Amino acid sequence: MKVLVVGANGQIGKQTTEMLQEHNDHHVRAMVRKEDQLNEFKDKGIEAVLADLEGPVDQLAQAADGCDAVIFAAGSGGKTGADKTLLIDLDGAIKMVEAAEKAGVERFLMVSALQAHNRENWNEKIRHYYVAKHYADKALVESSLNHTIVRPGGLLNEEGTGKVRVAENLPERATIPREDVARVLVASLNEEKKTFNRGFDLLSGEYSVEKALSTL
Ligand SMILES: NC(=O)c1ccc[n+]([C@@H]2O[C@H](COP(=O)([O-])OP(=O)(O)OC[C@H]3O[C@@H](n4cnc5c(N)ncnc54)[C@H](OP(=O)(O)O)[C@@H]3O)[C@@H](O)[C@H]2O)c1
Repeated sequence: MKVLVVGANGQIGKQTTEMLQEHNDHHVRAMVRKEDQLNEFKDKGIEAVLADLEGPVDQLAQAADGCDAVIFAAGSGGKTGADKTLLIDLDGAIKMVEAAEKAGVERFLMVSALQAHNRENWNEKIRHYYVAKHYADKALVESSLNHTIVRPGGLLNEEGTGKVRVAENLPERATIPREDVARVLVASLNEEKKTFNRGFDLLSGEYSVEKALSTL
């Protein structure tokens, strides 16, 4: 598969891009928003394209042109205000869904957040963030794309264990290393039986990624 990673310069995005670059069955294109980031990827032999989620859908569709799948791993981050959450995590994600449809991409994997589908379990302090994730996920489900919505718990920067837990509902507040989220994204790309057109919560667990996905 030819895969566009959106937010490729981010922490999950970078690890996902590198895993795909080493994968025999996939080709990767990194979508970034700054010239120096573009050159960094190109220097590593990774195809890269410049586009901004605050820009027009046509620019995003051009970035996705010729791709079979999009992995959306972008986000406004915890240091910006609610305005950027709206512009990136909500509108940016939905524009990318529209762009993927426009470009004829078939598959779309969204990095969402644990329990984004369950209002009663949203963290009160960042309710606006969950609103953005919830409605971006909903727009993806209602699109024509073959979707997978991956909803990880609190993200850690420590090394991955390769052991995860997945289910439609994992309501406890727990964590997972970003590296393991990247592994699940890559493994889900072709996991037709268990991951096509569905969403799941994701935490650190006891099973290998393949075995965990088989339990869905
Ligand atoms: N933090 C948590 O505990 C947690 C839990 C569950 C889910 N998540 C979600 O997981 C995802 C990935 O998290 P992460 O920590 O890996 O993210 P991250 O390191 O903050 O990376 C986000 C990426 O999005 C890019 N981006 C921001 N605005 C953009 C724009 N206008 N156009 C194009 N790209 C843009 C950033 O670009 P630059 O590099 O140029 O800044 C950055 O590379 C996010 O969607 C986040 O909401 C987070």
